[in-house]
Amino acid sequence: MAMLESRGVAKYFTHKNRPMRALDHIDLDIQDGEIVSLIGPSGCGKSTFLRLVAGLETPDEGQITFDGKPVSGTGPERIMIFQEGALFPWLNVRDNVEFGLRVAGVPAEERSKSSDKYLEMMHLADFTDSYIHQLSTGMKQRVAIARALVMEPRMLLMDEPFSALDIPTRDRLLGEVQDIWMKTGKTILFVTHNAVEASVMGTRIAVFSKRPSRIRKIIEVGNGRPRTSDDHELVPIQNEIRSELCREGV
Ligand SMILES: Nc1ncnc2c1ncn2[C@@H]1O[C@H](COP(=O)(O)OP(=O)(O)O)[C@@H](O)[C@H]1O
Ligand SMILES: [Mg+2]
Repeated sequence: MAMLESRGVAKYFTHKNRPMRALDHIDLDIQDGEIVSLIGPSGCGKSTFLRLVAGLETPDEGQITFDGKPVSGTGPERIMIFQEGALFPWLNVRDNVEFGLRVAGVPAEERSKSSDKYLEMMHLADFTDSYIHQLSTGMKQRVAIARALVMEPRMLLMDEPFSALDIPTRDRLLGEVQDIWMKTGKTILFVTHNAVEASVMGTRIAVFSKRPSRIRKIIEVGNGRPRTSDDHELVPIQNEIRSELCREGV
């Protein structure tokens, strides 16, 4: 049994008073400890699929299971990291990172032990008292990742987490997230529209078709880690992704 199993998942929305099939039929297994990159044309339903896995929405057809149990709502084992970070500007870095633990009623001492660990891991130890507006975009994204990690999720759901970053900052974070993965063995579902990011991150890459979407192709990436965006050995994978997207007319 895979950690996450999506079987025949479909999702409709209403568009101009008509039903619009966003996800047509998504079959995908994600094993414990994998990083699966999910790439596809804009508007094909990548974020929608992530929201279904997070339990923020429910499928109209089919089923998603986690550890064999149907996903029916959010849970601490599946934590989402949004593109914009979605941090609280009125809290400092430490309090942002500890927010979920505070809500869960974790005592202060335990909270700070846990946040120290992940603030350190995300290279934020010198910025615990800073407020969000005092941080660069890359640092904000680090805070968002630390805030997710303190919850000790089994699966991290990342929705285009690096798309607002400049290339050097993005490249550094691609390295850091791989480091975290090697240290913690977290399972990661990584949504991106960028073929380079998909190839650097994924142990497998699921290419979505355009709407109503299905998985067009699954590409295995056997290359060693840590991988970097200028790694020549990843170029054939990136070309394969681009040609799949091209056939979708993107
Ligand atoms: N809550 C919603 N209500 C109506 N339409 C939605 C909603 N969420 C997404 N959609 C539509 O579903 C399609 C897929 O959206 P999305 O999952 O955000 O795509 P992607 O992340 O791949 O760009 C888009 O056409 C979008 O407009
Ligand atoms: Mg999206």
